[in-house]
Amino acid sequence: MCATMTTTAPSPLLDDAVRLCQQALIDALPDEDAHPQRLHAAMHYSLMGGGKRVRPALVLGACRAVGGADEACLPAMAAVEILHTYTLVHDDLPAMDDDDLRRGRATVHKVWDEATAILVGDALNTLAFACLAQLPATQAKAAVAVLASAAGSEGVIGGQQDDLDAEGGRGLAGEDPAQLLQRIHARKTAALIRASCQLGAICGQGDGQQQAALADFGFHIGLAFQIIDDLLDQSAAVQELGKTPGKDAQVGKLTWVSVHGLEAAQRAASAHTEAAEAALAPFGAAADGLRALAALLLRRNS
Ligand code: IPE
Ligand code: IPE
Ligand code: MG
Ligand code: MG
Ligand code: MG
Repeated sequence: MCATMTTTAPSPLLDDAVRLCQQALIDALPDEDAHPQRLHAAMHYSLMGGGKRVRPALVLGACRAVGGADEACLPAMAAVEILHTYTLVHDDLPAMDDDDLRRGRATVHKVWDEATAILVGDALNTLAFACLAQLPATQAKAAVAVLASAAGSEGVIGGQQDDLDAEGGRGLAGEDPAQLLQRIHARKTAALIRASCQLGAICGQGDGQQQAALADFGFHIGLAFQIIDDLLDQSAAVQELGKTPGKDAQVGKLTWVSVHGLEAAQRAASAHTEAAEAALAPFGAAADGLRALAALLLRRNS
């Protein structure tokens, strides 16, 4: 359940990423039965049991867009999926979103316990940077800076803090809800998706302009991605979603739907997808994989 997106639009890029990422993750992870077995088994469970692999696909697509070889970006593909998975394991904890279902299965803290889920996240966070250390030295330096900045207190973690503070209408401190929502989405989701595109460009040895254009593409795709996630929480079925729908409204999350409504959310996701596609203009046919993926993500139902 929910390992792949069920839609009519094909994305050979996503198919390639699922396959390449699977092997890169197996290579990156310590053996499931290595000591401490409990921790490593839970790490495998969190990573190998599904997930759409959107961020590795964006790494691969960006690398291809600048003319890089697939092999050049395998460590970065693994790094972004591992880092993303750590954020999901922590996001699901009772102290955060308190979710029991992820990727169609019981969450890590349900199968094991909260302490193990915290440690799984910690270990995956570290492992992501170990993957980037496998890149050639000149790329590794830039790659670590990009991922650290996207994942840190002014990126994903900062967005998660604002997301939790805003729950139930708290934490606004006089700020316009639409503005706060924009900052939350930019940080908790778009930052890592943008970084995935930048990492692909770095691994493919794209120049500064190409890196900036792909970062712009990723930022807009990332904003569209979280808007659709908010929409799906409202409208999707648990079997497709692989996580429990309706939770955002239940706990009073600040979402695109709660602030702007369903129709405006769909329009905003389309507008960000168009802006993302515009950023790909300089790449011509080399970015066709990213274009098809962007179209698929807009129509996804999981
Ligand atoms: C879920 O991300 C968290 C968000 C940023 C919305 P995905 O929808 O990419 O989750 P997986 O990796 O496919 O499980
Ligand atoms: C999560 O946003 C973003 C992360 C950094 C994990 P959500 O809380 O909306 O993601 P889901 O809906 O649980 O996947
Ligand atoms: Mg959350
Ligand atoms: Mg959540
Ligand atoms: Mg959500």
